[in-house]
Amino acid sequence: LARSQQARTDAQGHGDARAEVVSLPEFDFATQQSLPYDGRFVRPSRLVDAPNPMMPLLDAIWTRRTSRGYADRPVDRETFDWLVAQAMNAPTACNEQQWKLILIDDPAIIMDLYERGSASFLKNAKQCFLVCYNRRSDNREWADHTQSGAAFIATFQLVAHTVGVGSCWIGHLPNKSELRRVFNIHRAYEPVALVTFGYYRNKVKILPRKRDVSKIIMHNRFVPEGLVFENPRRTLFRTVARYAYYKIPAFFRRRLKPYTKRFEKKFYYETFD
Ligand SMILES: Cc1cc2nc3c(=O)[nH]c(=O)nc-3n(C[C@H](O)[C@H](O)[C@H](O)COP(=O)(O)O)c2cc1C
Repeated sequence: LARSQQARTDAQGHGDARAEVVSLPEFDFATQQSLPYDGRFVRPSRLVDAPNPMMPLLDAIWTRRTSRGYADRPVDRETFDWLVAQAMNAPTACNEQQWKLILIDDPAIIMDLYERGSASFLKNAKQCFLVCYNRRSDNREWADHTQSGAAFIATFQLVAHTVGVGSCWIGHLPNKSELRRVFNIHRAYEPVALVTFGYYRNKVKILPRKRDVSKIIMHNRFVPEGLVFENPRRTLFRTVARYAYYKIPAFFRRRLKPYTKRFEKKFYYETFD
């Protein structure tokens, strides 16, 4: 920021027409000031004791990482409501703001979701919420209800991080029809994803982003060069296996759960105290 202000001052000093151009500061993980970083790990638990919702936006964006294990102390209802009130500033299609959240803190319901085949670490979570969004949209082609729900989750995760609340967005869940029955979800609403949350007790290894900006941006048209795909046979196998698994009655899936865990993706960048 100092550099961009200096650039502006210099430009003005020279009566330069570029006076209006703001040069953006370079920023990377080491630039952020909000969390201790030892060159490898960041410890977001610092924010539990010293919440900092006013931290610079870029600090929050760079230091937020998914958390899949949480402290015993639950996030109280007042704090949860505050987080939701902030996340309700997320954009929605046609500004409809048609979210519904099912807050889940009953261990029996969480265990039931786990046993039905959800992501395994859900077993360790004490709190989560299911995001639903009104699907009666005239723009089904673009699934804009899903996009609106996704924007809410991304905003929630960012704000929650600033006050020491870690979270994980979960898409590894039983089929939507099953969740509709379990939670009695109105047919006009679509379950979008589950979000676990709780106070941090982890440290996260900071890994570089997988691709460079120049590999992401194409200009005026899609350039099908240098595309990266998973092995198609592996993807097909996983798709069929997933379809078959969630078609099995829940009763049998409960018994299979201990054996299916090993097929889940593991995230080794996160360790717990
Ligand atoms: C649509 C979506 C679905 C996800 N589903 C899962 C999931 O089922 N289980 C899980 O452990 N993480 C899940 N995640 C979290 C991602 O694994 C995580 O965001 C990713 O590894 C990047 O890590 P970071 O959030 O720390 O940057 C999901 C994230 C998104 C956006």
